[in-house]
Amino acid sequence: MQFKTIALIISVAGLATTAAVAQTKPKVDPAKADAAMKTAFPKAPADWHPRLVGDETMKDCSAHRNTPPQALAKTIRERAKATIQYPPDGKLMGDWKKGEALAQSGYGMRFTDYPPKRVNGGNCYACHQLTKQEVSYGTMGPSLLEYGKIRKFSEADTKIAYDKIYNSHATFPCSLMPRFGANNFLTIDQIKDLTALLMSPDSPVNK
Ligand code: HEC
Repeated sequence: MQFKTIALIISVAGLATTAAVAQTKPKVDPAKADAAMKTAFPKAPADWHPRLVGDETMKDCSAHRNTPPQALAKTIRERAKATIQYPPDGKLMGDWKKGEALAQSGYGMRFTDYPPKRVNGGNCYACHQLTKQEVSYGTMGPSLLEYGKIRKFSEADTKIAYDKIYNSHATFPCSLMPRFGANNFLTIDQIKDLTALLMSPDSPVNK
Protein backbone atom coordinates (compact mmCIF):
# COMPACT_ATOMS: atom_id res chain seq x y z
CA MET A 1 0.00 0.00 0.00
CA GLN A 2 2.70 2.41 1.10
CA PHE A 3 4.81 1.41 -1.93
CA LYS A 4 1.89 2.18 -4.26
CA THR A 5 1.47 5.62 -2.70
CA ILE A 6 5.16 6.39 -3.18
CA ALA A 7 5.00 5.18 -6.79
CA LEU A 8 2.00 7.44 -7.39
CA ILE A 9 3.79 10.46 -5.90
CA ILE A 10 6.82 9.78 -8.08
CA SER A 11 4.75 9.49 -11.26
CA VAL A 12 2.75 12.66 -10.47
CA ALA A 13 6.00 14.48 -9.75
CA GLY A 14 7.28 13.22 -13.12
CA LEU A 15 4.22 14.60 -14.91
CA ALA A 16 4.60 17.95 -13.16
CA THR A 17 8.24 18.17 -14.24
CA THR A 18 7.33 17.32 -17.87
CA ALA A 19 4.61 20.00 -17.83
CA ALA A 20 7.02 22.57 -16.35
CA VAL A 21 9.63 21.84 -19.05
CA ALA A 22 6.98 22.14 -21.78
CA GLN A 23 5.89 25.52 -20.39
CA THR A 24 9.38 26.99 -20.19
CA LYS A 25 10.25 26.21 -23.85
CA PRO A 26 11.02 29.63 -25.35
CA LYS A 27 8.78 30.91 -28.12
CA VAL A 28 10.85 31.79 -31.18
CA ASP A 29 9.50 33.86 -34.03
CA PRO A 30 9.98 31.63 -37.14
CA ALA A 31 10.85 34.69 -39.26
CA LYS A 32 13.67 35.54 -36.84
CA ALA A 33 14.95 31.96 -36.94
CA ASP A 34 14.93 32.00 -40.78
CA ALA A 35 16.81 35.31 -40.82
CA ALA A 36 19.40 33.92 -38.37
CA MET A 37 19.89 30.88 -40.66
CA LYS A 38 20.56 33.14 -43.65
CA THR A 39 23.07 35.39 -41.86
CA ALA A 40 24.88 32.33 -40.48
CA PHE A 41 26.00 31.34 -44.00
CA PRO A 42 27.24 34.58 -45.59
CA LYS A 43 29.61 32.75 -47.95
CA ALA A 44 27.11 30.17 -49.20
CA PRO A 45 27.07 30.05 -53.02
CA ALA A 46 23.98 31.66 -54.59
CA ASP A 47 22.55 28.33 -55.74
CA TRP A 48 22.48 27.18 -52.10
CA HIS A 49 20.31 30.06 -50.88
CA PRO A 50 17.00 28.25 -51.43
CA ARG A 51 18.34 25.50 -49.09
CA LEU A 52 18.57 28.02 -46.23
CA VAL A 53 14.77 28.29 -46.19
CA GLY A 54 13.00 25.26 -44.75
CA ASP A 55 10.83 23.33 -47.22
CA GLU A 56 7.28 22.29 -46.36
CA THR A 57 8.38 19.21 -44.39
CA MET A 58 11.03 21.11 -42.39
CA LYS A 59 8.44 23.78 -41.57
CA ASP A 60 5.89 21.18 -40.46
CA CYS A 61 8.49 19.40 -38.32
CA SER A 62 9.77 22.63 -36.75
CA ALA A 63 6.24 23.81 -35.97
CA HIS A 64 5.59 20.58 -34.04
CA ARG A 65 9.09 20.14 -32.58
CA ASN A 66 9.51 16.93 -34.60
CA THR A 67 6.40 15.26 -33.13
CA PRO A 68 3.68 16.03 -35.68
CA PRO A 69 0.08 15.02 -34.94
CA GLN A 70 -0.95 11.73 -36.57
CA ALA A 71 -2.74 13.21 -39.59
CA LEU A 72 0.18 15.51 -40.40
CA ALA A 73 2.67 12.65 -39.90
CA LYS A 74 0.76 10.73 -42.57
CA THR A 75 0.92 13.75 -44.91
CA ILE A 76 4.68 14.08 -44.36
CA ARG A 77 5.19 10.35 -45.02
CA GLU A 78 3.16 10.46 -48.24
CA ARG A 79 4.87 13.65 -49.42
CA ALA A 80 8.26 11.99 -48.82
CA LYS A 81 7.21 8.76 -50.57
CA ALA A 82 6.24 10.73 -53.67
CA THR A 83 9.84 12.03 -54.03
CA ILE A 84 11.45 8.58 -54.21
CA GLN A 85 12.84 7.58 -57.60
CA TYR A 86 13.81 4.02 -58.41
CA PRO A 87 16.44 2.64 -60.80
CA PRO A 88 14.96 2.00 -64.27
CA ASP A 89 15.91 -1.71 -64.09
CA GLY A 90 14.29 -2.10 -60.64
CA LYS A 91 17.51 -3.48 -59.09
CA LEU A 92 17.89 -1.84 -55.68
CA MET A 93 21.30 -3.27 -54.78
CA GLY A 94 24.65 -2.19 -56.20
CA ASP A 95 28.20 -2.78 -54.96
CA TRP A 96 28.58 -2.98 -51.16
CA LYS A 97 32.32 -2.16 -51.40
CA LYS A 98 31.49 1.22 -52.94
CA GLY A 99 28.73 1.54 -50.33
CA GLU A 100 31.21 1.05 -47.48
CA ALA A 101 33.49 3.77 -48.93
CA LEU A 102 30.47 6.11 -49.19
CA ALA A 103 29.40 5.32 -45.62
CA GLN A 104 32.90 6.32 -44.47
CA SER A 105 33.05 9.54 -46.50
CA GLY A 106 31.78 12.81 -45.06
CA TYR A 107 32.79 14.75 -48.17
CA GLY A 108 30.47 17.25 -49.85
CA MET A 109 28.48 20.49 -49.57
CA ARG A 110 31.37 22.54 -48.18
CA PHE A 111 31.44 26.09 -49.50
CA THR A 112 35.14 26.13 -48.66
CA ASP A 113 35.54 23.41 -51.29
CA TYR A 114 33.03 24.29 -53.98
CA PRO A 115 32.46 23.25 -56.70
CA PRO A 116 33.25 19.82 -55.25
CA LYS A 117 36.34 17.92 -56.38
CA ARG A 118 34.97 14.44 -55.66
CA VAL A 119 31.59 12.76 -55.27
CA ASN A 120 29.57 13.41 -52.12
CA GLY A 121 29.73 10.83 -49.34
CA GLY A 122 26.92 9.44 -47.16
CA ASN A 123 28.66 9.98 -43.81
CA CYS A 124 26.58 7.13 -42.34
CA TYR A 125 29.21 6.35 -39.67
CA ALA A 126 28.72 9.84 -38.24
CA CYS A 127 25.40 8.60 -36.84
CA HIS A 128 25.41 4.79 -37.09
CA GLN A 129 27.46 1.75 -36.19
CA LEU A 130 27.58 -0.40 -39.33
CA THR A 131 30.47 -2.85 -39.12
CA LYS A 132 32.52 -4.44 -36.34
CA GLN A 133 35.75 -3.38 -38.06
CA GLU A 134 35.02 0.36 -37.73
CA VAL A 135 35.20 1.41 -34.08
CA SER A 136 34.71 5.14 -34.66
CA TYR A 137 31.01 5.93 -35.15
CA GLY A 138 28.27 8.22 -33.90
CA THR A 139 25.19 7.08 -32.02
CA MET A 140 22.48 9.55 -33.03
CA GLY A 141 20.94 6.75 -35.11
CA PRO A 142 20.50 3.08 -34.13
CA SER A 143 23.24 0.50 -34.75
CA LEU A 144 22.85 -1.06 -38.20
CA LEU A 145 25.05 -4.05 -37.40
CA GLU A 146 23.62 -7.23 -39.03
CA TYR A 147 20.89 -5.08 -40.61
CA GLY A 148 20.20 -7.47 -43.51
CA LYS A 149 20.82 -10.67 -41.55
CA ILE A 150 18.22 -9.70 -38.91
CA ARG A 151 15.74 -9.05 -41.73
CA LYS A 152 16.55 -12.37 -43.46
CA PHE A 153 17.74 -10.41 -46.53
CA SER A 154 14.12 -10.04 -47.63
CA GLU A 155 13.14 -8.13 -50.75
CA ALA A 156 10.59 -6.05 -48.82
CA ASP A 157 13.27 -4.92 -46.35
CA THR A 158 15.64 -4.12 -49.22
CA LYS A 159 13.06 -1.66 -50.52
CA ILE A 160 12.57 -0.24 -47.00
CA ALA A 161 16.35 0.35 -46.74
CA TYR A 162 16.50 2.02 -50.19
CA ASP A 163 13.50 4.24 -49.33
CA LYS A 164 15.04 5.13 -45.96
CA ILE A 165 18.26 6.38 -47.56
CA TYR A 166 16.44 8.15 -50.40
CA ASN A 167 14.04 10.03 -48.13
CA SER A 168 14.09 9.16 -44.43
CA HIS A 169 10.72 10.87 -43.80
CA ALA A 170 8.91 8.27 -45.92
CA THR A 171 9.26 5.78 -43.06
CA PHE A 172 9.77 8.05 -40.04
CA PRO A 173 8.20 11.54 -40.31
CA CYS A 174 10.48 14.27 -38.92
CA SER A 175 13.43 11.89 -38.91
CA LEU A 176 16.80 13.44 -38.01
CA MET A 177 18.43 11.52 -40.85
CA PRO A 178 19.33 13.56 -43.98
CA ARG A 179 17.23 13.05 -47.14
CA PHE A 180 20.05 11.90 -49.35
CA GLY A 181 18.17 11.15 -52.59
CA ALA A 182 15.38 13.71 -52.28
CA ASN A 183 17.94 16.51 -51.85
CA ASN A 184 20.07 15.27 -54.77
CA PHE A 185 22.96 14.76 -52.40
CA LEU A 186 23.51 11.14 -53.43
CA THR A 187 22.69 9.59 -56.81
CA ILE A 188 20.46 6.57 -57.37
CA ASP A 189 23.60 4.46 -58.04
CA GLN A 190 25.16 5.57 -54.76
CA ILE A 191 21.95 4.75 -52.88
CA LYS A 192 22.00 1.30 -54.51
CA ASP A 193 25.58 0.78 -53.26
CA LEU A 194 24.55 1.79 -49.73
CA THR A 195 21.50 -0.49 -49.87
CA ALA A 196 23.85 -3.33 -50.86
CA LEU A 197 26.07 -2.51 -47.88
CA LEU A 198 23.07 -3.01 -45.57
CA MET A 199 21.41 -5.94 -47.35
CA SER A 200 24.15 -8.13 -48.95
CA PRO A 201 24.92 -11.37 -47.09
CA ASP A 202 28.64 -10.92 -47.91
CA SER A 203 28.83 -7.28 -46.72
CA PRO A 204 30.83 -6.58 -43.54
CA VAL A 205 27.58 -5.25 -42.00
CA ASN A 206 26.24 -8.81 -41.96
CA LYS A 207 29.43 -10.78 -41.17
C1 HEC B 1 22.65 12.94 -38.94
C2 HEC B 1 22.57 11.56 -38.51
C3 HEC B 1 22.33 10.47 -39.53
C4 HEC B 1 23.07 10.19 -40.66
C5 HEC B 1 24.23 10.96 -41.24
C6 HEC B 1 22.52 8.96 -41.18
N1 HEC B 1 21.48 8.53 -40.41
FE1 HEC B 1 20.41 6.83 -40.66
N2 HEC B 1 19.24 7.31 -39.06
C7 HEC B 1 19.44 8.39 -38.22
C8 HEC B 1 18.45 8.36 -37.16
C9 HEC B 1 18.33 9.37 -36.02
C10 HEC B 1 17.64 7.22 -37.37
C11 HEC B 1 16.47 6.73 -36.50
C12 HEC B 1 15.21 7.50 -36.77
C13 HEC B 1 14.68 7.22 -38.12
O1 HEC B 1 14.34 6.06 -38.44
O2 HEC B 1 14.61 8.12 -38.93
C14 HEC B 1 18.16 6.58 -38.58
C15 HEC B 1 17.65 5.42 -39.14
C16 HEC B 1 18.23 4.72 -40.17
C17 HEC B 1 17.74 3.45 -40.69
C18 HEC B 1 16.52 2.69 -40.16
C19 HEC B 1 16.96 1.80 -39.02
C20 HEC B 1 15.87 0.89 -38.53
O3 HEC B 1 16.05 0.32 -37.43
O4 HEC B 1 14.85 0.71 -39.20
C21 HEC B 1 18.57 3.08 -41.71
C22 HEC B 1 18.48 1.83 -42.57
C23 HEC B 1 19.58 4.12 -41.83
N3 HEC B 1 19.34 5.09 -40.88
C24 HEC B 1 20.63 4.10 -42.76
C25 HEC B 1 21.53 5.13 -42.94
C26 HEC B 1 22.55 5.17 -43.99
C27 HEC B 1 22.79 4.05 -44.98
C28 HEC B 1 23.19 6.36 -43.86
C29 HEC B 1 24.27 6.92 -44.76
C30 HEC B 1 23.91 7.13 -46.15
C31 HEC B 1 22.61 7.07 -42.75
N4 HEC B 1 21.62 6.31 -42.22
C32 HEC B 1 23.00 8.34 -42.32
C33 HEC B 1 20.41 9.35 -38.36
C34 HEC B 1 21.34 9.43 -39.38
